[in-house]
Amino acid sequence: MLPFQLQALELPQPLGSADFLEFDQLKAELGQLLFYDPILSGNRNISCGTCHNHALGSGDGLSLGIGEGGQGIGTKRTAGSGDDQIRKRIPRNSPALWNLGSKEISTLFHDGRVSISDVYGNGFNTPAEEWLPQGIDNILAAQAMFPVTSQFEMAGNPKENEVAGATHDRIDAVWPILAKRVRVIPEYGEMFIRTYSDVAQPSDVNITHIVNAIGAFIGLEWQSFDSAFDEYLSGDESALKPTERNGLNLFYGKARCVECHSGKLLTDQKFYAIALPQFGPGRTRRFDPMVRDVGRMAQTDRLEDAYRFRTPALRNVALTGPYGHNGAYSTLEGIVRHHLNPESAFESWEIEQAKLPEVPWLSEVDYVAYQDDRERNRLKSNIDIQSVELTDIEVEELIAFLNSLTGGSSVKGRFGRPERLPSGLEVD
Ligand code: HEC
Ligand code: HEC
Repeated sequence: MLPFQLQALELPQPLGSADFLEFDQLKAELGQLLFYDPILSGNRNISCGTCHNHALGSGDGLSLGIGEGGQGIGTKRTAGSGDDQIRKRIPRNSPALWNLGSKEISTLFHDGRVSISDVYGNGFNTPAEEWLPQGIDNILAAQAMFPVTSQFEMAGNPKENEVAGATHDRIDAVWPILAKRVRVIPEYGEMFIRTYSDVAQPSDVNITHIVNAIGAFIGLEWQSFDSAFDEYLSGDESALKPTERNGLNLFYGKARCVECHSGKLLTDQKFYAIALPQFGPGRTRRFDPMVRDVGRMAQTDRLEDAYRFRTPALRNVALTGPYGHNGAYSTLEGIVRHHLNPESAFESWEIEQAKLPEVPWLSEVDYVAYQDDRERNRLKSNIDIQSVELTDIEVEELIAFLNSLTGGSSVKGRFGRPERLPSGLEVD
């Protein structure tokens, strides 16, 4: 390999601790507990950690997860029974949370519905619009406002609990109820007083204190930049094996992956349609009950954004399958080959390539959108990626490169999963 190839390939600068926002240690310690505490869910039965678990690379190991009302984690998660049985799968894949505390991150969610922006005068463009309170530290904290308001993720069904009832009135009615639940637990109350200078007594705690703690935890916990690729970027050419280096050359060259997976985080944070096969309940909209997911278009209302999803970051990608916004592929080979020829991959895809908890009554809708001819055609006629021809060996090299993006010690996190919670509830 030629030494000047580094420049020629436009490799990113190394990622390092200076690229991250500053997060307060005390807030993060509190955030670790809140992140895993089901107290923030309507029926006290699910936490952020259920779907973003340390044991599962900060995701849930499933294509589409099972939300509030289920039990267990990963492929062992069950879907309840009788009146309490889960009524639909979570419509999108639970993403990994690596490096989201980077200063560069400006957009969250597969469709980018949380972003840094001042349209509403509170620092963020979110589904809560102007109802998002002031005083939110960063985009991770802003994001944490939403899972708790979502019926199928954490809030539960109307009439089951006071949280779910409140989300039906107006989104911001939920937050004071949750803040009160947390602050009346003496151990939490004391921690908030210790952590925040504007909290003199537990009754001063509001939702912004809670989400700022969770944001600090996520931001500090899942920083990862000690992979072989990172060592290579820092100048150690021997860090990558020859196959991995060939894969890197393909990624930044002939295979054109860098056109979208660019920069220090290997994402441009923009939106593209790559025609992943649709399955599951879809992200239906009030006026669009078809079980489909139009992606970015649901946010922008622009037809050209149909089926576009945000380019994912790729560090630790080997740990975070299934892949894509709906987890259509369980393997790296599956998702990589899909990129090379989306249309033919779309045609030959089978649901066995996904990883779904087997639940007969949930499977009923799984295939509806994939089998609908008009929907198939719409999806196939909106593809933003050009086909690339690679040999089988080149595909293997690309996958070897993707494996070299797995971090070393940083993968374990700094705080880990807590052993016990101030609420006394169980840790998933
Ligand atoms: C039922 C499973 C579930 C629970 C519980 C859950 N999440 Fe998620 N999380 C998801 C899914 C699915 C998405 C992607 C949704 C989308 O893009 O539309 C997501 C997205 C995110 C993202 C955005 C990641 C990115 O790269 O854009 C963050 C951050 C996050 N969740 C944090 C949290 C926090 C904090 C909590 C608890 C307050 C939480 N999640 C609870 C499933 C869950
Ligand atoms: C045109 C932009 C674009 C190009 C070029 C591109 N990707 Fe992607 N990639 C995406 C988007 C967008 C997604 C997510 C699609 C979705 O969720 O529907 C994605 C998803 C992925 C994923 C899944 C990651 C995860 O966490 O789910 C991997 C792995 C990946 N790409 C690798 C590659 C490789 C390797 C190449 C080069 C062969 C490549 N990409 C080229 C836009 C692109």
